[in-house]
Amino acid sequence: MRAPQKGDAAGIHRLIAECPPLDLNSVYTYLLLSEYFGQTCILAGSGDTLHGFVSGYVPPQRPDTLFVWQVAVHERARGQRLGRRMLQNLLQRPGLAHIQFIETTVGPDNSASRGMFAGLARQLLAPVNEQPLFERHMFGPQAHEDEPLLRIGPFRSELLR
Ligand SMILES: CC(C)(COP(=O)(O)OP(=O)(O)OC[C@H]1O[C@@H](n2cnc3c(N)ncnc32)[C@H](O)[C@@H]1OP(=O)(O)O)[C@@H](O)C(=O)NCCC(=O)NCCS
Repeated sequence: MRAPQKGDAAGIHRLIAECPPLDLNSVYTYLLLSEYFGQTCILAGSGDTLHGFVSGYVPPQRPDTLFVWQVAVHERARGQRLGRRMLQNLLQRPGLAHIQFIETTVGPDNSASRGMFAGLARQLLAPVNEQPLFERHMFGPQAHEDEPLLRIGPFRSELLR
């Protein structure tokens, strides 16, 4: 597992395209994430084969929080806790030792993603709160599920070491 670099963006775009129901963003978005937010993103894979990717950033108004944007694990690598392990690995980075909360949005029917975040919260002995954030009608004419906010924390990431 490692931080992405800009040369990874096209491969990340391909991986996300193969991981519905994730929204596929432009290659440019993945270039930006890799070049400017690599310290809060992580890739799993070897050579040209990417198995997993997590994008995230620290919201400027909440420096103790990691917002997790997209988590993708390719079908060939699912069920081995790779999703959770990428999140753990991120939280163990020295530059993120101060993080006490994770925020993310998860569709109501995405049981794999909910299971992954619930497992991480249990491991961190942290409460999980859920509240509405991005509602269906806010996505415009494009059909899209609600994206409620999950907030996990407070926690101490030393629990992962
Ligand atoms: C969500 C996703 C990243 C999970 O990746 P993964 O590496 O297979 O998940 P993990 O193995 O870390 O699973 C973690 C937990 O979730 C549970 N889980 C995994 N898949 C599940 C499923 N389909 N249904 C219910 N629970 C599931 C596991 O049992 C595990 O629980 P445990 O730790 O208590 O045993 C992967 O399924 C994926 O990429 N899906 C498509 C894209 C997506 O929906 N991303 C998330 C958007 S927010």
